[in-house]
Amino acid sequence: MKLRPAPHISEITPYPPGKPLEELEREYGITGSIKLASNENPWGPSPRAVEAIAGALSSLHRYPDGSSYYLTEAVAAWSGASPEEIVPGNGSNEVIEFLVKAFVREGDGVITSHPSFLMYQKFVQVRGGTNIVVPLADMHHDLERILAMIDGRTRLIFMDNPNNPCGTLISRERFATFLRRVPEEVVVVLDEAYVDFVSPELRIDVLSYIRNGEDLAPLVSLRTFSKAFGLAGLRVGYGLMHRDIAALLHRVRQPFNINLLAQVGAAAALGDKEHYAMTVAETARGRAWLSGEVEQLGCRAYPSHTNFFLIDVRGDATRLYEALLHRGVIVRSMKAYGYPDFIRITVGTEAENRRFVTALRECLRELGYG
Ligand SMILES: Cc1ncc(COP(=O)(O)O)c(C=O)c1O
Repeated sequence: MKLRPAPHISEITPYPPGKPLEELEREYGITGSIKLASNENPWGPSPRAVEAIAGALSSLHRYPDGSSYYLTEAVAAWSGASPEEIVPGNGSNEVIEFLVKAFVREGDGVITSHPSFLMYQKFVQVRGGTNIVVPLADMHHDLERILAMIDGRTRLIFMDNPNNPCGTLISRERFATFLRRVPEEVVVVLDEAYVDFVSPELRIDVLSYIRNGEDLAPLVSLRTFSKAFGLAGLRVGYGLMHRDIAALLHRVRQPFNINLLAQVGAAAALGDKEHYAMTVAETARGRAWLSGEVEQLGCRAYPSHTNFFLIDVRGDATRLYEALLHRGVIVRSMKAYGYPDFIRITVGTEAENRRFVTALRECLRELGYG
């Protein structure tokens, strides 16, 4: 066999997903472990979503609705956007891919931040585009530097808001000033995967920019069912954008990109306001409790607008990550992200949070941190 991959593809390092529970238990011969590594919903999916999915199982021999009609209607009712302003994706990841496919040609520039969600850069690499990576400033997107990096080749700017892994937010005022200064031909993408956890008064009014942005750079907002809605395994997300951008993205997507179960499950989840409200409230409660406990152990907990937060463990984060693994607790080491002493944890159920704190206490003592 003689493979001749495109050089820009060979250079890509695959995305490192959080360690799956099954893999940890197999490797370490343990059971009952917990995963606080991938910012999932620890309370599970809405029972209404599960019921809707079960009801659709006998229709699996049919192709799904290629327009995701009912899902799009449900997202429209939820978000206030009209169906023409919505593009569903196989996870919001797929909408990122559509944007890169639709706007980026070889050699075009895309601005992202570091650290930030890694997939933006990966899709740009696949396309042969150029990643322009701006370091965060004090854990926030450095809007001034991003503006300074824009040139004639820039097509897209991706900013996760809140940022993953720092959990920080761009204020409404700073965003308004920023957007006014971006050239009209550059598409600004706000990845709002965690917007559900942000206090409503702090959220950016993306729809008003999408609709009234005549002389502004176009804005796209990305949302997902993987976090607050507890459907990460189903793979559904969507983008909100001007209808002309949506029309472009529909040209690059596969006809049946949202599978049947995902369409009915996600639409049903939007109808379960109780499960959603419980998730958001319990996340805030758990985050506050965890932060207090972690600080009492001599670590520093960083404030966050999301269902995860950073912890400065005052010692090598990867060694701590491994010590936690031995106790059946999966978190993320932030060493590879440029924070050698930090871990990132996702807020879990009350029992999971307690288990984490106990394991952290033991590991800090064992490693002599603090
Ligand atoms: C900032 C950000 N955007 C997007 C995603 C992926 O979302 P999805 O599951 O909808 O593809 C994640 C997942 O961790 C994320 O952290």
